[in-house]
Amino acid sequence: MKRSLSGIKPTGKLTLGNYIGALKNFPKFQEEYENFIFVADLHALTLPIDPDYLKNNTRDLVALYLACGLDPNKTTIFLQSDVSEHSELNSILQNYLYMGELSRMTQFKDKSKKLNQNAIGLGLFAYPVLMCADILLYNADVVPVGEDQKQHVELCRNLVHRFNTRYNKEIFVMPEPIVPQVGARIMSLSDPTKKMSKSDEKGDIFLLENLKSIEKKIMRATTDLGSDIKYDKENKPGISNLLMIYASLKDISVEEAEEHFKDCHRYGDFKKEVASVVIDTISKIQNKYNGIISSNLVDEVLKEGAKKAKAVASITLKNVQKTVGIYGK
Ligand code: TYM
Repeated sequence: MKRSLSGIKPTGKLTLGNYIGALKNFPKFQEEYENFIFVADLHALTLPIDPDYLKNNTRDLVALYLACGLDPNKTTIFLQSDVSEHSELNSILQNYLYMGELSRMTQFKDKSKKLNQNAIGLGLFAYPVLMCADILLYNADVVPVGEDQKQHVELCRNLVHRFNTRYNKEIFVMPEPIVPQVGARIMSLSDPTKKMSKSDEKGDIFLLENLKSIEKKIMRATTDLGSDIKYDKENKPGISNLLMIYASLKDISVEEAEEHFKDCHRYGDFKKEVASVVIDTISKIQNKYNGIISSNLVDEVLKEGAKKAKAVASITLKNVQKTVGIYGK
């Protein structure tokens, strides 16, 4: 059976962007693939974060994985930090990626730009190396991610080619990024030229946000001049973003969404309908989340998941250690 793997960093409250670009699609893979979904908690340390906030976000993220339809009987759900092989493979792989290619990563450039240039953490720079370890330990065939993570998976593909060529063996499986056709890059509601991100209170919709507040944010979303509901990213970025959100949550194409709104010429009516679909989706998730978070399920799932993940990861790590010449492996 082919394998699928993906993860999310518990650096903040999960957004509608995370849901549409990634989380919503994860359960689809558990039907056809051997599915691994983890919490990238070591990646969360690449920028300063409060320890209690990180712990709470981690627990919330696992509860949201379950609330969004991941079934622990079909998907191995685990914490990156529970499987020490991630760090061990990371320390081997860092010798096979180059500083030049890491410094060209868009995410590194964006994030480091905002920091004091004398205090850019090594972990932030080397972030994609650990991500390669995450993917390669499980020999994932596919990696479902949003648009912004595609470049990291492509870097991982270069690494696979480099490593397998160097040792003249198929040590690692070549992973394929899978980006959703609709909603791979959801934009901020307050500035639709910027990506929706976990740190943008005004333009963001959070999965655990109060429903009234979500409705308000959608009704106040920045839109453009005119009254037609048309997908036109250049000239109508706000309307295009809302159309994309609507289409993704309804599981239809953007063209079908345009057709649905062809007789609607009032942005207010359009936004009301978008808000109702978003609220319907999020309220269902919140209801499930509330039941899960008040039980022991998160800890039980993580305990079981760590065992299953370790069993797979330890075989890959040993094989890599043997290949590179570590004595006694
Ligand atoms: P993270 O935590 O930043 O985001 C998690 C997932 O959400 C997607 N995403 C979006 N999709 C659409 N629109 C948006 N506005 C939006 N914002 C975020 C991201 O593309 C991602 O798929 N490095 C990863 C975590 C990671 C990982 C891995 C993923 C670590 N190791 C191995 C896959 C495989 C990250 O920081 O995602």
